[in-house]
Order: sequence, then structure tokens, then C-alpha cells
Amino acid sequence: MIRSRVIGTGSYVPKKVLTNHDLERFVETSDEWISTRTGIRERRIAVDDTPSDMAAKAAKAALKAAGISPKDIDLIVVGTVTPDMTFPSTACFVQGHLGVKSGAAAFDVSAACSGFLYALDIADKYVKSGVAQKALVIGVDQFSRLIDWKDRATCVLFGDGAGAVVLSAEKGQRGVLSCHIHSDGKHWEMLYSESPCPPSPFEERKATNQYLKMNGNETFKIAVRTMGNAITEALEANNIKPEDVALLVPHQANLRIIDATRQRLGLPEEKVYTNLERFGNTSAGSIPLALDEAVRLGKVKENDIVLFVSFGGGLTWASAAVRW
Ligand code: ACO
Repeated sequence: MIRSRVIGTGSYVPKKVLTNHDLERFVETSDEWISTRTGIRERRIAVDDTPSDMAAKAAKAALKAAGISPKDIDLIVVGTVTPDMTFPSTACFVQGHLGVKSGAAAFDVSAACSGFLYALDIADKYVKSGVAQKALVIGVDQFSRLIDWKDRATCVLFGDGAGAVVLSAEKGQRGVLSCHIHSDGKHWEMLYSESPCPPSPFEERKATNQYLKMNGNETFKIAVRTMGNAITEALEANNIKPEDVALLVPHQANLRIIDATRQRLGLPEEKVYTNLERFGNTSAGSIPLALDEAVRLGKVKENDIVLFVSFGGGLTWASAAVRW
């Protein structure tokens, strides 16, 4: 059977660090409130990088780790809700930045924080069916463009960043075992941004009320429930028990959501990878950014079962199981 094996991972975050103490200077908040309610201590803010720059840098690192050339890639799928422009897609920009061959397919997927797992699901189906041999799957977002920096309820949560994986069509048991993507559009008002792509300049956005909006408490409750259900779905689909899971890489929105999900699964803390303390919620960038760190730290070994789970605006949620 042909599977999509992950043969390389990469990530990129911009240099500018914005700490909780920095935020104390322009909204009424505290490092103590932010870190105890969310687990976040700092985040990165893109100043010179566009989303496609971040995506291309993450993809370049993933290609290097995979030991292949951009010319080998025949599909690029990017999960993002903050594209450089309305069109062309971020994926087309990445193709141009990297020098991926003309004629490859490149497109974006909009699923907010579930964008990477939606992109993985799509790319996996192209690879498994023989349509693509080598695919780049990227998650990237620049929520600093959507944030109302005067709204303490949302501005403390998000950061900018990107992550990428290279999938290769290979025979055998290793690779993506299953992906599960879901949505429920009737809850769109939980978390949304009316902002066009790219967002209008600051003052114009203020006037037209186009900042990101979120009902934090309700989002929290739904996130805990749906992430737990999504993991159960991935376990059952593959006849896997929680104790068979080597590592869970969840969407990095809030440590309390992650802990509730972990406890429901009965996983020990060391089997869950988190880095939101340093990067906050990078939306579609969050899972591949965390995965790349975990891989580079040697936390993922050959044949390990790795689980992913996400939750985001739409509402969308997703999970995936991979045999490494
Ligand atoms: N600093 C200090 N006080 C604050 C801050 C802040 N940054 N933000 C809110 N508060 C205050 C509130 O005003 C409120 O004050 P009050 O009691 O006087 O009214 C108090 O703190 C408690 O506010 P809550 O909203 O009840 O705090 P909660 O414990 O629910 O934490 C949070 C808020 C962190 C937003 C939480 O609800 C959460 O993480 N929700 C999920 C968010 C999420 O995951 N979103 C991303 C989805 S992914 C995507 O698609 C982008």
C-alpha cells in the first residue's frame, strides 16, 4: 500500500519577540494573568516577513531535512487564513520563492487553526492516490495583522509563525495512517475576522471594525470537547490505544485546553509536546512548528505513533495519526 511518509520537517518564526511584560505596557494585563490562564509567556511578531516568506523559509528547512530539491515537489498545499494577498495563493508565492518546477500544483486551504491538518488531509489523498509523489504541506499565519492591540482578551493569545512537512509516496506501514477533518459553520461567530486580505491599514480597520473577534469562554469549552472527540476518532480508526501513542502534538492555543485533552486521554505530560510558552497561538503554523521542534529534539523515533489534534475558527477541528 502507498502511504504518505513524512520525510522532512521545518519551521520558521520571525525574530521580534513580544513578551507578556511588553504587553503590560499597552494593555491592562499582567504576565501572571496571561501565563496562568494560557501558559503563554512570549510570542513572535513578523515585521519584515510576509506569510509567504515565513512559509517558504519553513518549507526550505523541511526540504533540507528531507534531503530533496524543490524541483522534486509536485504539490504544495498551504493552510492559512492570512495570505499575503487575496490572490495569488500563498502556495503559489511559496512555489516562486523556492523555485518549485512550473506545472506543479499549488493552492491554499482556509480552516483557521485547523489549516495545517486540513492541508495534510488533502495532500495525503493526492499522494496515496498516486497523483503526487512529493508534497509540501505548510501551515502559516500572521495573526498580528488581525489583532486589535487594545483588546486584552485577544491580543495576548496570538503570535506569528510557520511550519512545514514534506510527504513522499512510499510503500510500507510508515506514514500518514488517517486524517479526520470536521467543521460546524453555525458557530462561525465564536471566532472570526471580517478583515479582507490583506487587511486594510490600521485606522481603516478600526473604522470598519475588522479585527479578530472571539468568544473566549465558549470557544474554550467547545475546544476541550471537540479535541477530545477528534483524538478518540483517530485512535478508533486505527485501533490504537492511548498507551500506544508516542507523542501527541496538539494545536497550541491554551495550556489548560491541552491539559484537559491530555487528561481525558490519560497521557503523561512527557507524551504531549508544547511550545506555546514561547510562541503563543500561531494558528495554522502551530502544529507543524511544534512538530518540527519535537523532531529536532529527537522526541520522535522511527515507527512511533504520533497524533495531531486541532481546533479553530469556522468552527473547524481535525485530527491525524502518523506512523513515523
Ligand atoms: N489580562 C488581564 N485580565 C484579562 C485579560 C488579560 N489579557 N483578558 C481578560 N481578562 C479579564 C476579563 O475581563 C475578566 O474580567 P472580569 O472577571 O472582571 O469580567 C477576567 O479576566 C476573566 O476573563 P475570562 O474570559 O473569563 O477568562 P478565561 O479564564 O476564560 O480565559 C481565555 C480567557 C484565555 C481567552 C480563554 O477563554 C481561552 O483560552 N479560550 C480559548 C481561546 C482559543 O483557544 N482560541 C483560539 C482558537 S484557535 C483559532 O482558530 C485561531
